[in-house]
Amino acid sequence: MSRLVVVSNRIADPRKTAAGGLAVALAEVLNNTGGLWFGWSGKIVDAAEDDDVLFQRAGPVTLAMVDLSQVDHDAFYLGYSNGVLWPVFHYRLDLADFDAGYIGGYRRVNQLFARKLLPLLRPDDVIWVHDYHLIPLAAELRALGCKQRIGFFLHIPLPPPLMLAAIPGHDWLIRALFAYDLVGFQSKADLHHFAGYIEAEAHAQPVDEGRWRAFGRTVQAGAFPIGIDVQEFTALANAPEAVEMYERMRREYSRRRLLVGVDRLDYSKGLPQRMRAFREFLTKNPDLRSSATLIQIASPSRENVNAYTEILHELESLCGSINGNFGELDWMPVRYIHRTVARARLPGLYRASRVALVTPLRDGMNLVAKEFLTAQNADDPGVLVLSRFAGAAEQLGEALLVNPYDTEGTAAAILLALQMPVEERRTRHEALMQTVRRYDVHWWCDSFLAALERTQAEEKGTSWL
Ligand code: ADP
Ligand code: G6P
Repeated sequence: MSRLVVVSNRIADPRKTAAGGLAVALAEVLNNTGGLWFGWSGKIVDAAEDDDVLFQRAGPVTLAMVDLSQVDHDAFYLGYSNGVLWPVFHYRLDLADFDAGYIGGYRRVNQLFARKLLPLLRPDDVIWVHDYHLIPLAAELRALGCKQRIGFFLHIPLPPPLMLAAIPGHDWLIRALFAYDLVGFQSKADLHHFAGYIEAEAHAQPVDEGRWRAFGRTVQAGAFPIGIDVQEFTALANAPEAVEMYERMRREYSRRRLLVGVDRLDYSKGLPQRMRAFREFLTKNPDLRSSATLIQIASPSRENVNAYTEILHELESLCGSINGNFGELDWMPVRYIHRTVARARLPGLYRASRVALVTPLRDGMNLVAKEFLTAQNADDPGVLVLSRFAGAAEQLGEALLVNPYDTEGTAAAILLALQMPVEERRTRHEALMQTVRRYDVHWWCDSFLAALERTQAEEKGTSWL
């Protein structure tokens, strides 16, 4: 059997976990398959160019890590990846910083990854590259003579063609995707945007089902919605730490209904909009005021990118004013916690909550939605309020779908969720769990790798960039 080589910028010891869907999902996959996980060590050093790869054994997985220099980290990670690609791919052209200097760092780090990874590869390895940081990696590997099958999965949304076209050098970026054998997206909508872009901008011709020819090459592309490890998460929910958390929350909030939000503190998550909707709910329903509490956990993320500092201040000020205006001596409507919660305790928090507010303005998938459902007690389950703009909405139609920009509509959904009779909660939960179980993280991994295996081998050549 061939070895799986996973490449991503963020990597994590699979025995521990981090906030962020990519690291959580890949840790679960690799724990199962074993293999090599190559990525950034998380360390910034004076000059990384000639540094050795650092190896670490983590159960069945070997982690192979490279350091980044300060200059490369700033241009590649803060600049191009999170200052250009992240906002544009989340439909936020207004937040993009198209500084021409960033692209050089982006290319340099992709070249560094290719150079350091190539000597570690075996002829029958299957290589799976992840996310927007590493779009040109296959092109860089091919330029060095790499012939192995390479797949790519984009964890974040792909925006409509005209929005993509706002990125200077967008054609270079999308052309680089054709160096892969298979390109995977989270949703059908993303796949549709990809097809629309290459047909409009590169005169691509559909060759076959899910296969296009453009730039003198062909590529296979498909939608592979990512899932969670349902078994593992259920076991976590039944373990002592989660049970203890559940019991503590139930004791503390015995007279109240809990609403919960768990996110990285990111402008794509719609946190201020969520707070405004909750404020609207409190305003409109004075009789329900002191019976509902929103716990919002927002873990710090990318704090050196400007847009993230602004969202932090906005959220703090909204939470403060809601508590100031509606709070009582013995009750605060919002508990805002700017930290990462230990993963072992998360299912307890989810289970103690009657409602989850998963209301991103845009999200590739959103795994919190699936975790919340999995942690529920099937006899008395909570209700998922889900943004129609999360990739998960394509799969989870039985949730209460909302438009997060519509403050009144979201407030009305909160009321509906809090008052939903148990029979309806059960019916919806059962239907949702069928999907969550069927399309779990192992389905995602197996179906992507099987499709990669099936791709027609094509001589990709070395002239890519
Ligand atoms: P993203 O990948 O954009 O962060 P997802 O919802 O897909 O969003 O994945 C987030 C993952 O990180 C989930 O597994 C979630 O449990 C975890 N996570 C997010 N925020 C926190 C937090 N504040 N504390 C603990 N875990 C978190
Ligand atoms: C999202 C992205 C991942 C990223 C994660 C955490 O899930 O899709 O690629 O790793 O957020 O962000 P960070 O910048 O800390 O890696």
